[in-house]
Amino acid sequence: MYKIIAVCLVSLLCVQCRAQHKLNLMPMAAEVSMPAKAGNFLLTKNSWVSMKAVGIDSTAHLLNELLQQKVGFKLNTVKTGAARGGIVLSKAKLPDSKTGSYKLVIDVDGISISGETNREIFYGIQTLLQLMDIREATASSEAGVSLPYVVINDYPRFAYRGMHLDVARHFQPVAFIKKYIDYLAAYKFNTFHWHLTDDQGWRIEIKKYPRLTEVGGYRNGTIIGHYPGKGNDSLRYGGFYTQDQIKEVVQYAAERHIDVIPEIEMPGHASAAIAAYPELSCFPQQDTRIPKGTSWVGDRKGKQVQQTWGVFEDIFSPTDFTFHFLEDVVDEVMELFPSKYIHIGSDEAPKEAWKKSAFAQKLIQDKKLKDEHGLQSYFIQRMEQYINKKGKKIIGWDEILEGGLAPNATVMSWRGENGGIEAAKQNHDVIMTPGGWMYFDHSQSKNEDSVTIGGYTPLQKVYGYEPIPAALPSDKAKYVLGAQANVWTEYLKYPSTIEYMIFPRMLALSEVLWSPEKKRNWQNFKERLPAVLERLNHQKINYSKASF
Ligand code: ACM
Repeated sequence: MYKIIAVCLVSLLCVQCRAQHKLNLMPMAAEVSMPAKAGNFLLTKNSWVSMKAVGIDSTAHLLNELLQQKVGFKLNTVKTGAARGGIVLSKAKLPDSKTGSYKLVIDVDGISISGETNREIFYGIQTLLQLMDIREATASSEAGVSLPYVVINDYPRFAYRGMHLDVARHFQPVAFIKKYIDYLAAYKFNTFHWHLTDDQGWRIEIKKYPRLTEVGGYRNGTIIGHYPGKGNDSLRYGGFYTQDQIKEVVQYAAERHIDVIPEIEMPGHASAAIAAYPELSCFPQQDTRIPKGTSWVGDRKGKQVQQTWGVFEDIFSPTDFTFHFLEDVVDEVMELFPSKYIHIGSDEAPKEAWKKSAFAQKLIQDKKLKDEHGLQSYFIQRMEQYINKKGKKIIGWDEILEGGLAPNATVMSWRGENGGIEAAKQNHDVIMTPGGWMYFDHSQSKNEDSVTIGGYTPLQKVYGYEPIPAALPSDKAKYVLGAQANVWTEYLKYPSTIEYMIFPRMLALSEVLWSPEKKRNWQNFKERLPAVLERLNHQKINYSKASF
């Protein structure tokens, strides 16, 4: 008897393994089962999509757009549909469901995708599209697409699944930003962190301060090669997004269930803003200091947008002028982005200017602050209060812990895991982005064939990342909302180089963030990877081959 049970269990497990292996899902779904008696449903251009729920039309429309790209045909949409032969999209609260849970069933009757809202149904659609690449599927508009009978119950492990992109160092057109959002959506990420301002460029139109983009949006040249550079390309470089373009991107992302979090850097990484409005500096009359050993083109007088990479001493002065300016900026930003979060940077703000500034020193005394770190904390808390009053929350890099954490802040832990651990211990929400695992500007191989910022973060290392730090007491794990990879673009100028750096690493990250921890299996991931890379080839998306 035991033997029979054991044999049954083994064969059941094998059906599951075979199913998951063959289906090449990425990220792997939480529960997949294929019936013992296999079969296929043929989706053809005569099939239909039934929108059996209110408010589902936009999702059905998106499904049709995605089908057109994938298999070259769209389906008729119907409100009820025949008993069998099509795709039924329906809204249903699944038992024990979390945000993101969906159920996908393919059987003799056709395809059914259900979930509580359009978001959940959209995740089911992404899974369905991935099933369309299996070897058995014939993706031709004539024959239709043959899909295996399967039941998938799926849900995400983490609520925050992010990818960041720095468009300050190198600007990317709206068309690529939309592609980037498509990449996130395809692998079930839900957050795009858009790094919009830095020393080398201010990239978002602010109507009240037009010089931010007129002046701060452009630099006169860029160093060539690795810092400090082998010269300067002497090419005026820049660009920015108009508010209409920002709205277009945010809308595009929302349709794909991606939240866009804007980042406006303060009080450091502020050279571009200071070039536009020198009064924001502690020393408005001083020329921008050009780092030794770097080559510079154009005007050296007054405040300049930086032409090289790094950290710069000229940070925002903590005056009322600066605070009013930043409040005006975030007012316009909050109007554009429905996200509940505004990221206010706060990393790498050297304190030398505040040490030398009589105004900053008097403020430290008047407010009875301990030192310049206390002043940074005052700065961030003052901005937090303003932003909280408008109904939004702040995120800051882990430097916001120094001098005391703002009461409601969420911390992005980038200098390793310690910032995240400390913030979670203080009962603050945390997003893990530690440099050693989550910096996708690092090299993917030891003999990288392109210039990168350094570091070595191969695919397997990303796959092995565990967002809940081992050192975190278990009752604090709930504060870890998830993780995010950061894509800094000092050395990434073109969309193709950005694609090269994110793929295939973001596939590994998608599984870290979505799949149940016990389902993570490097060997199994590697076996599914070739089919997913084939998908990227088909879509003409660039990727690194360093890891295989
Ligand atoms: C950072 O990488 N400076 C957040």
